Amino acid sequence: MKWSKKHIISIKDFSRDEIDYVLKKSSEMEDRLSHEKTGSLMKNKILSNLFFEPSTRTRMSFEAAMKKLGGFTIGFDYPEVSSEAKGETVADTVRIASGYSDVIVIRHPMEGSARLASENSSVPVINGGDGANQHPTQTLLDLYTIKKEFKKIDGLRICVVGDLKYGRTVHSLTNALENYDVEMCFISPMELRMPRDSIKGLEDRGIKVKESSKLNIKDSDVIYCTRIQKERFPDPQEYERVKDAYVIDNSSIEGIEDKAIIMHPLPRVTEINPEIDRTRHARYFEQAKNGIPVRMTLLSLVSGVDF
Ligand code: NCD
Repeated sequence: MKWSKKHIISIKDFSRDEIDYVLKKSSEMEDRLSHEKTGSLMKNKILSNLFFEPSTRTRMSFEAAMKKLGGFTIGFDYPEVSSEAKGETVADTVRIASGYSDVIVIRHPMEGSARLASENSSVPVINGGDGANQHPTQTLLDLYTIKKEFKKIDGLRICVVGDLKYGRTVHSLTNALENYDVEMCFISPMELRMPRDSIKGLEDRGIKVKESSKLNIKDSDVIYCTRIQKERFPDPQEYERVKDAYVIDNSSIEGIEDKAIIMHPLPRVTEINPEIDRTRHARYFEQAKNGIPVRMTLLSLVSGVDF
């Protein structure tokens, strides 16, 4: 794949070889980072962070990644301070940002917004989450975390728990896992099941899929939990009905395998009890930290920087 000037919009645009390449380069980047050898890779380049929706990890880790590469960031953290408040379109905002910067990260509540942004930009656009649709850089750091732990992805049993209807992180992750020889288990309330096309995508590749509304996580290597996405529910009463559907605590992990890891893209609300943080299974804080080398790698690759 030609990486330079590539937009990163959907994980579906990536082949297995391309995903594996990003994971390999991210590991090299992490190594360089530990030797403080990254500060000139994107010296004086500018990243625009256009965040039309709340974010802690995605925005901060892209900013930290850019700074560790020797570059700068500009942009906004919430749309109220941008000209969106005056009625400017996303397309115009992106056109302007692409004149001010070398790469753009955009997060927006509308599905398809990142694709639209890429069509209006003269510099690479990276999707930091478009509504309930996709979050490709989160998926790459999720896979990086899994590979770091197990030294492989093939052969693993991966269980995804929570809001599988509105969660963009699990949509991207499921699409990416079509490329691997895994077993998948989806646990959610009936109302929040994984979209049918994602399940079909897995089954078409011969991947074993189980769906359940019971929190049975015993036979899993990876337990990937998600937040119920309150902001995406059209009906607040529907949210009230499912908001406490699952809680992972010391009693629910009884009998899980020693080597099993618990992941979460964060933020968590009530779905993982903090008592889990002290167990050998918790990986969500390391997972968030892995966003740095992975996002440094993506910024470098799309900017045509060799490392
Ligand atoms: C997620 C997101 O924004 O999709 N967070 C993240 O980027 N790490 C998950 C969420 O909001 O629940």
